[in-house]
This record gives sequence, structure tokens and C-alpha cells, in this order.
Amino acid sequence: MKDLKECAIEIAREAGIFLKDKLNSVHTIDYKGEINLVTEVDKISEEMITSKINALFPEHDILAEEFTDIDRGSDFRWIIDPLDGTTNYAHGYPYFCVSIALERLNIMTVGIVYDPMLDEMFVAEKGKGAFLNDREIHVSNTRGIIKSLLATGFPYDIREDSHNNLNYFNEMILKAQAIRRAGSAALDLAYVAAGRFDGFWELKLNPWDIAAGWLLVEEAGGIVTDMGGNDYHLESSSILASNGRIHKEMMDVLKWASSI
Ligand code: IPD
Ligand code: CA
Ligand code: CA
Repeated sequence: MKDLKECAIEIAREAGIFLKDKLNSVHTIDYKGEINLVTEVDKISEEMITSKINALFPEHDILAEEFTDIDRGSDFRWIIDPLDGTTNYAHGYPYFCVSIALERLNIMTVGIVYDPMLDEMFVAEKGKGAFLNDREIHVSNTRGIIKSLLATGFPYDIREDSHNNLNYFNEMILKAQAIRRAGSAALDLAYVAAGRFDGFWELKLNPWDIAAGWLLVEEAGGIVTDMGGNDYHLESSSILASNGRIHKEMMDVLKWASSI
């Protein structure tokens, strides 16, 4: 059997190249909610990825965003976002990725985030470090939020639910050096792993948004918890990922923001 990580890298690259090729085509846009959209490319990418995994590992479980939830009772489960950053993609804004993670017995074992526009392949393997195009990566050494470039995002129900991150954002923007809302949680996490962002937080993400990025941050020496500092798990309702050095300070700002 081919190495699982190598298979995941190959599959992510193929899907990513497909996304890049189709970026400037006209897309069919369907709406899952008022501002939560999906294109035909998300679905084709998912079909490409899951059919390859099914062919190579017919006994494995697979969870992917658009339409795949296969439970065969396996110790292995693939968790896939076939296109993270769909809103960007639909507008031709070139910040998006493919995210593929492999869990074994509920432990994240492999995490791949691929940005086809920059041909950047972020790879993490449990206990073996994090890499960007085969070069080992580490979180930043930045100390102090005032010196930090942070990232966040806002949930699709921002209009319907007041638990929408605006309170946290309003507080954090006054404390950080700067904040980016780049539009792809998986890539944001990969950027924390690579030391480009010093920290990231967001609410209400799904397992496919964070599975691979979570492992990348931890393997790059960072910390991932929920916003209250509790151990992170795939069903956590919030995420806080950082270089570790600013984790407590970020948590304090988030706590303060929720109290006012
Ligand atoms: C979204 C992106 C975005 C985040 C949203 C996610 P999608 O994923 O990761 O950055 O703010 O919450 O749902 O819909 O582009 O796969
Ligand atoms: Ca996503
Ligand atoms: Ca997606």
C-alpha cells in the first residue's frame, strides 16, 4: 500500500490544480443560505478527491463538506474540504485551498493544506513535524499581541445570530498590530503554522475547515484550544490557534470582549 501521506498529497495537488484551472470560468452558484454559496467546482473537487480515496482505501470512512459522509466502521477517517474559501473563489480572489486530513482512532494523523495559486503544499504528520514544500516550518516567535498579525473569520449566520464574532473582532482590532479576514480558515491555520500569522480565532467552524490546519499548527510548535483555553476537539464551537507565546493574551482579550 502506498504511504497514506503521499497519497493525500497527490490527491490534494490534483484537486488544487483543477481549482486553479477553473478559477476564471463562469460558475454555477447555488446558495446554502443567504451568503453561504457553493459552486459546481466545490462538488466536482469533492467527487475527484473522494473517488480516489474510495478506490485506494475502500475500507476507510470519509467525511467531506458537500455530500460525503461514509461510515464503514473503520479506524481511519478522511476529513475533507474540497474548496476552502468558496466566496473568494467565486469572486476570482485567489486565496483558497484544498484541505485533507486523516484521522486514525480519533487522532489527527495527517494534515494537508494545498494552495494551488502559490503551489504551496503544507503537510503535517503526527509526531513528525510540519512542512511547506518539504521545508520544515515553525510558528512565529512573536511576543505580544501589539506586535502580532492575527487572522479571523465570520460565520455565515452573521446576520441571524448575534454570536457572530463582531464583539471579539472589535476588541482584538484595538489590541493587535493588524487583523486579516482572508476567507479560508484552513489556509489561515496553515499560515499560523508557517509563522505568517501569529494567531487565529473563529467561531462555529466545521471539522473539514480545521482538521488539517489544527495538526499543522500543533506540529509546527503552536497551540490549539477553544477560545476558553480548553483542549480542542473537532466539535468545539470555537477555535484559538497561536504561536503559543500570545495564546494567554489572546484568550484574555476574548474573555474581556465576551464580558462587555
Ligand atoms: C469558510 C472559510 C471561511 C470561514 C467560514 C468557512 P468555505 O469555508 O473557511 O474563512 O470564515 O466560516 O465556512 O465555505 O469557503 O468552505
Ligand atoms: Ca470551509
Ligand atoms: Ca468548502
